[in-house]
Amino acid sequence: MTKFDFCEFPVLETERLILRQLVPEDTISVYRIRSDYRVTHYNTGAPYRRVEQALRLIHSIQDGYEEQKELRWGLVLRGDDHTVVGMCGYNYWNRHDRRASVGYDLAHAYWGQGLMPEALRAVVEFGFHAMDLNRIEADCTVENSASARVLEKLGFQPEGLQREQYFEEGRFWDLRLFALLRRDYHPT
Ligand SMILES: CC(C)(COP(=O)(O)OP(=O)(O)OC[C@H]1O[C@@H](n2cnc3c(N)ncnc32)[C@H](O)[C@@H]1OP(=O)(O)O)[C@@H](O)C(=O)NCCC(=O)NCCS
Repeated sequence: MTKFDFCEFPVLETERLILRQLVPEDTISVYRIRSDYRVTHYNTGAPYRRVEQALRLIHSIQDGYEEQKELRWGLVLRGDDHTVVGMCGYNYWNRHDRRASVGYDLAHAYWGQGLMPEALRAVVEFGFHAMDLNRIEADCTVENSASARVLEKLGFQPEGLQREQYFEEGRFWDLRLFALLRRDYHPT
C-alpha cells in the first residue's frame, strides 16, 4: 500500500460500503444522522436542530483534511453514492508517536448489520499500512455498549476508565479507553 500524504483523498472499499470524502451535497444525509438523539446520545454535543450545523461539520472535516490534521470518511452503501449512512475516521494524528484516534457514527436504520466494524476494518488497515500508525485509540462512554462491542470485534484492548470525563445533559459521564497496537493487529 502506498504511503498516504494527503495529496489525494483515499477512497476505501469494503464488501458492502464505499468510504469517500464528505462533500456539501451530503448535508441532508449528515443532518439526518446528527439530528437523531439515538445517534448523538453517547457523544458530546446535542442533536443538530438546524441543517446548517451539518454543513458546518462537513466544512470543518474538509478543513481538517486540508490542514492535514484529520482524515474522516463518509460511508455510502455500494449502489447508492448519494446517501451517506455514517461517518468514521481519524480525529487526530500524532506523526511523531505514530498514534491516531478513531471516531464513528451510523444512521440508526443501519445498526446491527455489522456495517461499522466492516468500515473500521478498512480504516484500521489503512491506518497501520498507509499511515504507518503504531497505535489507534478510541473511547466511548460506559453506557455505550454497542460502541464497545464494535471495538472488541476489531481487537481493541480496554485500557481503563476516565471517570467523570465530561459534563452533558446535567450529569458527568465516564469514558472507557481502548487502543489497538500494530503488533496486536491480526486482520481477519
Ligand atoms: C456504535 C455503532 C457505530 C455500531 O455500529 P453497527 O454497525 O451497528 O455495529 P454492529 O452491527 O457490529 O453492532 C454492534 C453492537 O450494537 C448493538 N446493537 C445492534 N443493533 C442494535 C440496535 N438496533 N439498537 C441498539 N444496539 C444495537 C449490539 O450490542 C451489537 O453487538 P453484537 O453484534 O454483539 O450483537 C452504532 O450503534 C452507532 O452509530 N451508535 C451511535 C453513535 C456512537 O455511539 N458512536 C460511537 C461513539 S464512541
